[in-house]
Amino acid sequence: MGQPVNVGVVGCGAISAQYFPTIDRLPGLRLVAVADLDPDRAREAVRPYPGVDVLTVAELVTDPRVDVVLNLTIPAAHTEIALQAIAAGKDVYSEKPLAATAEEAERVLRAADAARVRVGCAPDTVLGTGTQTARKAIDDGLIGTPIAATATMITPGHERWHPNPDFYYLPGGGPLLDMGPYYVTSLVTLLGPVASVIGAASRTRSKRVIGSGPRQGEEIPVTVDTHVTGVLVHASGALSTLVMSFDGTATRASNIEVHGEKGSLVVPDPNHFDGSVLVSGADGWQDLPASAGYVEAGRGVGLADFASTPAGQEPRAGGALAFHVLDVMEALLSSAHTGVAVTITSTCERPPPVYLRPSEEA
Ligand SMILES: NC(=O)c1ccc[n+]([C@@H]2O[C@H](COP(=O)([O-])OP(=O)(O)OC[C@H]3O[C@@H](n4cnc5c(N)ncnc54)[C@H](O)[C@@H]3O)[C@@H](O)[C@H]2O)c1
Repeated sequence: MGQPVNVGVVGCGAISAQYFPTIDRLPGLRLVAVADLDPDRAREAVRPYPGVDVLTVAELVTDPRVDVVLNLTIPAAHTEIALQAIAAGKDVYSEKPLAATAEEAERVLRAADAARVRVGCAPDTVLGTGTQTARKAIDDGLIGTPIAATATMITPGHERWHPNPDFYYLPGGGPLLDMGPYYVTSLVTLLGPVASVIGAASRTRSKRVIGSGPRQGEEIPVTVDTHVTGVLVHASGALSTLVMSFDGTATRASNIEVHGEKGSLVVPDPNHFDGSVLVSGADGWQDLPASAGYVEAGRGVGLADFASTPAGQEPRAGGALAFHVLDVMEALLSSAHTGVAVTITSTCERPPPVYLRPSEEA
């Protein structure tokens, strides 16, 4: 392996605490600088990592040491930060969703093309052993031709635990745009791109109450649908039924199941890297040992995979996949509001599979 890729992080909130240890651990990445609207938050976040500079966003994106900008801001700021990084000639890898709207995401991809830089995007959880082992099982023909899948995420809402949950109820948030990227990216990884969708959605409350932290008890406005359901018609003909809710309280449904002509698979939580994959057979459900994916991965492994992807090749956690996923989610909401099925005009390749290997080899 050559020199590590130098990473500059913009946005040092809740999720940055999961990225920093991964960047620290993986030999392909080196954290050189961070920035946040709140410089004290940035300073505090990198206290365990001596030698990391705290800069302004403008300083960070133009810093000649920074090879790739890791954009961990809230969804409403993803586009602004990505465009700043691209304008400075830097590759950019954003947290999900790629942007708050598909129109904004398109602007980011166009700017990156023109500047000949690359765009990557979370989630990278689907590169872990959970989704990758399930994908290998499908590719190896264990369940025959896939016919259908179900994807279910039901929670009362992140305001119970997140100290600043406003963004979950603003454009770019809601259960679909927040959690949907894990599920739809996993479904596209397993079953390929989506050709059309039909959706339905509801919103139970106009306000939510923050449940923890210094703002506990404060009311925040809800401007997005909080229960979204629908069907994704994959180009392969397989049908995925999706339920994403911040309005329910609990579920015992599998996060994802895939049903084929010969058998069925239970796929673990796509918000996690690992977990049990179960396959149905004559003797009931059996655990499949991990057979593909990055082992013991953490958030940031997709950035390392992105950084090590040869020039001219689309990264696994790449802009084309993230754009297609956002396009599908937006179409689902649009269909929910019009009651009409929507044809998806974007598409993407299924990302290449990850063979079983330590995440240090990403
Ligand atoms: N919190 C989680 O568990 C979690 C999990 C997975 C993914 N994510 C994703 O990570 C992203 C960030 O989420 P979070 O929970 O860390 O949010 P957060 O609000 O805790 O942190 C976001 C940080 O970005 C900074 N910021 C916002 N706009 C900025 C700008 N224009 N310039 C510089 N800094 C700016 C804020 O000051 C804040 O410190 C979101 O896209 C979210 O979907 C979060």
